[in-house]
Amino acid sequence: MQKIMVLGGSGFVGKRVCAQLVEAGWAVTVPTRARSHAAALTPLAGMQLLELDVHDEAALTHSLAGHTAVVNLVAILHGTRAAFEQVHVALPHKLLRACRAAGVGSLVHISAMGASDVRPEQAPSMYLRSKGQGEAALLHPSDRASGPTVTVIRPSVIFGPGDKFLNVFAQLQAVLPVMPLAGASVRFQPVWVDDVAHAVVTLLARQVHVGATPGAAEAAFPPVVEACGPEVFTLAELVRLAGQLRGVNAGRGRPVLALPNWLARLQARLMELAPGEPLMTRDNLDSMKIDNVASGKVAGLQALRIEPAALRPIAARYLQRP
Ligand SMILES: NC(=O)c1ccc[n+]([C@@H]2O[C@H](COP(=O)([O-])OP(=O)(O)OC[C@H]3O[C@@H](n4cnc5c(N)ncnc54)[C@H](OP(=O)(O)O)[C@@H]3O)[C@@H](O)[C@H]2O)c1
Repeated sequence: MQKIMVLGGSGFVGKRVCAQLVEAGWAVTVPTRARSHAAALTPLAGMQLLELDVHDEAALTHSLAGHTAVVNLVAILHGTRAAFEQVHVALPHKLLRACRAAGVGSLVHISAMGASDVRPEQAPSMYLRSKGQGEAALLHPSDRASGPTVTVIRPSVIFGPGDKFLNVFAQLQAVLPVMPLAGASVRFQPVWVDDVAHAVVTLLARQVHVGATPGAAEAAFPPVVEACGPEVFTLAELVRLAGQLRGVNAGRGRPVLALPNWLARLQARLMELAPGEPLMTRDNLDSMKIDNVASGKVAGLQALRIEPAALRPIAARYLQRP
């Protein structure tokens, strides 16, 4: 049984990636900052949990010994410039060096729609700029030392049971009479979490089986894949849909109030000051200066023979009130 390490395996997407990897016959190792974060993974067969600081390069290298492949899903949505740099840029650099040192042959890295490995600095937010720099670290290393075959996946917003997107919009509408919304007209192409996980597993299978021949892997599949669903929605449409599918206001959802930019920034600033994880930050607003839809310039899920699922039937199942 081949071993794979999934960084960020305890998260929303990571759990589905781990489940599909186990189904596909991989022995999965998940490093986590605290075992309790990964409790949901313990029923999976052959799962090994490791309490590890993934930012400790020596420890990461040591724990990667014996693994054929790695998936990196570690990311943050909010934070300081230094935090984005540590998680989205320094970690991919360390991971690449660790893979080389440990002889890991395949690496799938989850980035985000709107990030660019070619011109990362042109992205509108710290989140997207740092995501692009992380991609560049893996796809265009400054030296030519041989390393793992790398594929970057750029998903649009991801939906599925436990998402912090449609679920949050549905919960807010259960308590608010009207939805004040920043970025109401920004367009998204939501992708089902299981389609993203399927893409990871498909890419790994191709990397491991085709990658044995140098140069063959890149010819067989693209280094960057955009993961998007079949439909484009504005944020306002998604918010309304979440309320309707939850059955709020007799299935009509709440009215959406599109906020002008200055008010959206003020709202985000206030949310940043509130205790706990903010619902929205000014950097999140900056990310929404561009649409979150496929550019069409790189491969999509169809290149992996994945027909992405539509949002409504799946979201209806998990948004419905119990
Ligand atoms: N969710 C979306 O809609 C969406 C859209 C586009 C792209 N993506 C990308 O998809 C990937 C997975 O997203 P997700 O929604 O599954 O994220 P998530 O639920 O927040 O999970 C991220 C995982 O990373 C680990 N982590 C977080 N901060 C860390 C830190 N400072 N140091 C070390 N580990 C840390 C956590 O593991 P432990 O707590 O166990 O250590 C956590 O389980 C990310 O790269 C994200 O940018 C997500």
